[in-house]
Amino acid sequence: MEITVRMIGALQLFISWLLWPYYFILSLKRIKPLPPIKSQLLEIPAVELARKIRHRQISSKEVVEAYIQRIRDVNPILNAVVEYRFREALEDAEKVDQFLSSTNTDLATIEKETPLLGVPITVKESLGLKGYSHCVGSIARKGVKSSDHGESVENVIKAGGIPIAVTTTPEYCMSWETSNNVTGVTNNPYDPLRTPGGSSGGEGALLGSGASLIGLGSDIAGSIRIPAMFNGVYGHKPSPGFVSIKGHFPNSTDHNFNNYLVCGPMTRYVDDLKPLLKIMAGEKAAGLRLDEEVDISKLKIFYKEDAGFSLVAVPVDWEIKAGIRDAASFLEKSYNCQVKKANIKELEDSVEISTTVFLGMEGIPNIMKMSQKENEEEQNLYHEIWKSYFGKSDYSLSALLFMFILKYNLFIPRTKYPFYCKQNEELRTKFNNLLGENGVFIYPTYPIPALYHNETFNRIAGIMYTMIFNTLRLPSTHVPIGLDRHGLPIGLQIIAGEKQDRLCMAVAKALDARFGGWVPPPSEPIG
Ligand SMILES: *[C@@H]1O[C@H](CO)[C@@H](O)[C@H](O)[C@H]1NC(C)=O
Ligand SMILES: *[C@@H]1O[C@H](CO)[C@@H](O)[C@H](O)[C@H]1NC(C)=O
Ligand SMILES: *[C@@H]1O[C@H](CO)[C@@H](O)[C@H](O)[C@H]1NC(C)=O
Repeated sequence: MEITVRMIGALQLFISWLLWPYYFILSLKRIKPLPPIKSQLLEIPAVELARKIRHRQISSKEVVEAYIQRIRDVNPILNAVVEYRFREALEDAEKVDQFLSSTNTDLATIEKETPLLGVPITVKESLGLKGYSHCVGSIARKGVKSSDHGESVENVIKAGGIPIAVTTTPEYCMSWETSNNVTGVTNNPYDPLRTPGGSSGGEGALLGSGASLIGLGSDIAGSIRIPAMFNGVYGHKPSPGFVSIKGHFPNSTDHNFNNYLVCGPMTRYVDDLKPLLKIMAGEKAAGLRLDEEVDISKLKIFYKEDAGFSLVAVPVDWEIKAGIRDAASFLEKSYNCQVKKANIKELEDSVEISTTVFLGMEGIPNIMKMSQKENEEEQNLYHEIWKSYFGKSDYSLSALLFMFILKYNLFIPRTKYPFYCKQNEELRTKFNNLLGENGVFIYPTYPIPALYHNETFNRIAGIMYTMIFNTLRLPSTHVPIGLDRHGLPIGLQIIAGEKQDRLCMAVAKALDARFGGWVPPPSEPIG
C-alpha cells in the first residue's frame, strides 16, 4: 500500500463528491435516442452471416450496404469513425459475390480458407489498416497513413473480412475516454452525454449501436474490456504472445511491451469471439487449443465482488455485484460446477502493483517526443498542461496527464519497483496455481457503468480491475449481463490461467444463455 496513491484516491473521491450535483443534473437531461435498427441483416452473428453468404442465401453487398447505412445513421451522434472505407468495401463485396457465383471451389474449402468471406469488420485506428489514417489522435501525426496492415488485421482480411471503417481512439491510446484533438469526442450509444470508454472507444460505440458486428481492438490496461463493458458487447484480452501486435502504434522497444499490450476481438455476439480470436492469431492460434471441447461442469469457478475494502477505491455498483453472484450461482445450479468465493487479498494493491510494473517499462512513447516534430526541443510538460487548461495546447489533457503520471510514477518511489515486480510475479503464480487448466475467476470489469465525459479524471481508480490482468498476463473476457436501472450496460470479466483463453470463452457462452448478451440501445420509435 502506498500512502501517496491512497491520498490521490482520496482526493479523487472528494472531487467526485463535490461534482455530484453536476452529474445529478446531467442525469436528468433527456437522452436523444439513436435511429432504430432498420435491417434484420444487422442482427445476425458473423459466423452465421458468413455461412449465409457462402451458401448464396444473401449477398455480401447487401450486408455491407446495411452496415454502411447504419454507420451513416448513427455516426453523427457517436462520432466514432476516423475514416470511412465505404466505396472500397462495396467493391470488395461485389468481388466476393462474383467469386461465389462463378467458383467451383467446394463450400468446405471456402469455409476453411476464408471463414469470414464477405463479412464487414471495423478496425481500431492504432492497429493499422494499410493506406488509412494512423495518426491515433495526435495533431503532430495528422495525415500519417499506415504503410501496411497490422499483422492481426492482415490475418482477418485474408480470412475474407471486409474493413468498412477505421475507428477512434484517445491520443496515443493514453486514456480510458475516447476524445482527442483530431477527431474530437466520441459518444456512448446508450447515452451520448457519456463516454464509450477507451481506448478502443470507437469500436465499442459502433458495436454497441449495431453499426459494427465484429471489431479489432487492443488492450494494455483495459482498452478492450472497458469499452466492451460501457457499450454492452463482448471483448477478449488474449494471453499475450498469440495475436501479433506488429503494426500497432503506439509501440515500444521494451521487451515487456509485448507482454502487456495485446490485440484482440470485440464482438456483439458471443459465438463470434472464438472464431475471430483464432483468425487474428493466425498460425499461433494452435497454442491456445481453442477447438478443444470445454466441459463446464468440470470447471472450478472462483468469484470476487470487488477488490476488497478500501476507502479510496471506486465502490462496485450493487447491480454489478449482484450480477457476479448471479453468474456464479447459475453455473453452480445449471452445470453443477464447484463454486467458491475467492479471497485474494493482494488485489487490494492492484493500483500500486500494476502501475509500478507498467510504468517501469522503458521507452513508453512520449506524445511530445515521438511526434513528427521529433527534432524540435521537447516541449515543457507543465507549460503544455497549463496551455491545455486554456484550450491552447495541441495535446489532449488526458495524454498530458498520462505523461505527468509517467514522469512521477504516480508518486511511487522508483526504488519500490523491484518490490512491486516481485508482488506481481507472486500474484501471477498464485492465480496460475489457483486456476490451473480448469478454473476461472469472475470479477468486475469496471466498478460502475459508462462514465460521463471527463468523469474518468476523478474515477481513474476504476481501472484497477482491468489493468492488473495486463501485468499478470492472464486472458480475460468481458461478458455483458444486460442493462442496469438507468438503461446502461453492465457486465463482468472472466479470467483464466495463462493460455487458457478457451475457458473464458466457454464460460462467456454459458453466461450468454443466462443474461442474453448484447441489448440494443434505446431508439426512436419507427415511423
Ligand atoms: C513503432 O512504430 C513506428 C511508426 O509506425 C515505426 O516506424 C517503428 O518502427 C515502430 N517501432 C517498433 C519498435 O516496432
Ligand atoms: C486539445 O484538447 C484539449 C482538451 O483535452 C483542449 O483544451 C485544447 O483546446 C485542444 N487543442 C486544440 C488545438 O484543439
Ligand atoms: C472535457 O474536458 C475538456 C478539456 O478540459 C473540455 O475541452 C471539454 O469541453 C470537456 N467536455 C465536457 C463534455 O465537459
